[in-house]
Amino acid sequence: MEKPRSSVVEQLRPLFRPRTVAVVGASRKPEKIGYQVVRNLMEGGFPRDRIFPINPYADEILGLKAYPSVKDVPEEVDLAVICVPARIVFDVVRDCGEKGVKAIAMITAGFGEVGNVEEERRLVELVRSYGMRLLGPNIVGVCDTVNRMNASFCQALPPPGDIAFITQSGALGIALVGWTIMERIGLSDLVSVGNKADVDDADLLEFFAHDPHTRAIALYIEGVKNGRRFFETARRVSKQKPIVALKAGRSERGAAAAASHTGALAGADRIYDAAFQQSGIIRAYTIDQLFDWCIALASQPPPRKRPVVIVTNGGGAGVMATDACADYGLALEDPPDDLKNVFRQYMPPFGSTRNPIDLTGMARRDEYYGAVLTALQHSWVGAVIVLYCHTAITTPREVADAILDAIRQAKVDKPVTVSFIGGAEADEASDYLRQNRVPCYPTPERAVAAMGALYRRAEYLGLLRD
Ligand code: COA
Repeated sequence: MEKPRSSVVEQLRPLFRPRTVAVVGASRKPEKIGYQVVRNLMEGGFPRDRIFPINPYADEILGLKAYPSVKDVPEEVDLAVICVPARIVFDVVRDCGEKGVKAIAMITAGFGEVGNVEEERRLVELVRSYGMRLLGPNIVGVCDTVNRMNASFCQALPPPGDIAFITQSGALGIALVGWTIMERIGLSDLVSVGNKADVDDADLLEFFAHDPHTRAIALYIEGVKNGRRFFETARRVSKQKPIVALKAGRSERGAAAAASHTGALAGADRIYDAAFQQSGIIRAYTIDQLFDWCIALASQPPPRKRPVVIVTNGGGAGVMATDACADYGLALEDPPDDLKNVFRQYMPPFGSTRNPIDLTGMARRDEYYGAVLTALQHSWVGAVIVLYCHTAITTPREVADAILDAIRQAKVDKPVTVSFIGGAEADEASDYLRQNRVPCYPTPERAVAAMGALYRRAEYLGLLRD
């Protein structure tokens, strides 16, 4: 008989926030996955005395004492990462169950994804009979930046942050670790879900909805397994935390490729579109959008009013942003006269107070500070998009400081997105803004699109007043 099940959040805590980790199939050979996982755990910063390599043929791996079986570990084991071949998986899972291991992350491939559906079903049955939960099989592992646990064969831990990234493609997950490091995108967790034999997307949404370290959830999916449960959970969770999903397999050939990659049922894309909308999931179409939007949703409040004000020092950037506003359904209107009059103080006579507010290339720190503060404090304004083209008149860092000062001074709950267009200095200032929780992007369209995501969320939550 199956043991009674506690809440999903409690069941999954040992998977994502374990105190102790056993690596079953820890290898002595550097080229093996079982070696990489132990090394990653150590290099990631997980405490050495809480890592237990399991290998019946080794006394020691990477300087850590190795145990012949998980049953020999002298302490409680929260998480067992399994990297032995499929043929011995049942034996080691039984050992884990007898030991009282709480959760299993199974890297081993060779189950449902290659047609061994019945074996996978028996595996889940076995795991559940001991009251354990199983992530996978066929995964790259789990990266938890909260406790610095890299229980995966990803090349490194992603930078710490507040976005949980759940990916159905392991390889994409691995590749994106390098990318998140380069782009300085912080994650709370990176979870490769593999075959979703036991733990599925709905369970993960539930866990991250309750995780205090996660403010937005990013999903890469090719298909969902139990659609009804997934979308019902998403509808509930998206009321608490934003969810952005990149669903691949939109085209006919793409859907066929997804079916052979993860066995995902190639559901009609339009059905997914409608289900995403109804359940409050914001759909992204590119990797940039997935993370751009999560960064904005994790750091900015949803808007309460429609009118958006664009503040810029470049006419061209303003025009591009205006077009993008039309694409994303954002309301750009002429500001009321009293607001225009205040804006005039921050620009030369040849500036523009029609929206976009063009401070012109003459704008420096004070003009940005004044215009952004004015926009944020005016009751007509719902949200502010700030654009800056790097000129010789001022430095990007000065403008970044002006924007931050204006936001702090305004003391209002309105969203701001920013674009800094330029070279290395603009990039550094952009990073500085992000570190201070202001989403900044390299192009105007991306700043507008991120604002579009904030409006979509506000609409879903019914927050917009006309
Ligand atoms: N308990 C623990 N360890 C055991 C063991 C047992 N009962 N029996 C053997 N081992 C040891 C082996 O001796 C070996 O250690 P060694 O190298 O020091 O001798 C280690 O476990 C690994 O076993 P090995 O037979 O060498 O397996 P492998 O490393 O070649 O392959 C997998 C194991 C899991 C990596 C492989 O089967 C697999 O599934 N690969 C695909 C992974 C993947 O792509 N996942 C999805 C990503 S998207």
